[in-house]
Amino acid sequence: MEEKILEAKRIIDDASNITVLSGAGISAESGIPTFRGEDGLWKNFRPEDLATPDAFSKDPKLVWEWYEWRRKLIKDSKPNPGHYALADFEQQVSDYTLITQNIDGLHQLAGSRNIVEMHGNLWQIRCTSCGNIEQNFEVPFKELPPLCKNCNSLGRPNIVWFGEVIPMPIIDKSLMAIENCQVMLIIGTSGVVEPAASMGLIAKQTGKTIIEINLEPTPNSNFYDLSINGKSGEILPQIFRKEQTSN
Ligand code: OAD
Repeated sequence: MEEKILEAKRIIDDASNITVLSGAGISAESGIPTFRGEDGLWKNFRPEDLATPDAFSKDPKLVWEWYEWRRKLIKDSKPNPGHYALADFEQQVSDYTLITQNIDGLHQLAGSRNIVEMHGNLWQIRCTSCGNIEQNFEVPFKELPPLCKNCNSLGRPNIVWFGEVIPMPIIDKSLMAIENCQVMLIIGTSGVVEPAASMGLIAKQTGKTIIEINLEPTPNSNFYDLSINGKSGEILPQIFRKEQTSN
């Protein structure tokens, strides 16, 4: 492990353009459940009942209650050393993009700036009628389901649900960041949900160096240049630590 961390450090120290892809695992040490695995959300809830356009049109209140529960969980949590290590690192490297599948907003709270949110944001409500997007941090909501401030129509979470497509500008921005980078870091994602799952492979095919940091091996680990298994909140601060120089 120590050796792999040093190797990752060497690769990153030599790069001036880095792209990161993060998933639920980076927020696990903040106490936010991941989706798959032992205590994953999809072990206890059915995505088709809660995270699809059909589920929302059948029972918007039920869907909103689930998101309200998740908003409370996240509001009570804080970024962890993994989030902070990435935010600090962004200040040190000339070109940096963070693509995240997470909707929790913890990267922003830690200070990361150049973020592409692939799956939307839990703190935004999108009007089902006029499309207006409102930032909203109410927990609990004053009214459930929440209504649009503009036109009083039903609001929905500004999240990409199963069966929906990620907006093209988000895909373009992600692919551009992958194309332009020298090194890609893939952190805390099981790598089974498209299109994020293929992004590492696209990077690999275009000659980028890929480092994966994940609690356990993933289906794509063997394709990557380096795969480090452990907690991102412990590994990232070590990878980005600046060596002390003595004069
Ligand atoms: P998953 O729950 O599928 O995977 C999380 C990964 O993080 C697993 O491989 C864990 O082993 C790993 N992990 C757990 N704790 C970790 C830690 N402390 N440090 C490093 N790794 C850790 O989550 P995602 O891959 O993000 O989409 O899931 C992708 C998408 O599936 C989500 O964005 C969500 C879900 O359905 C939507 O809701 C649209």
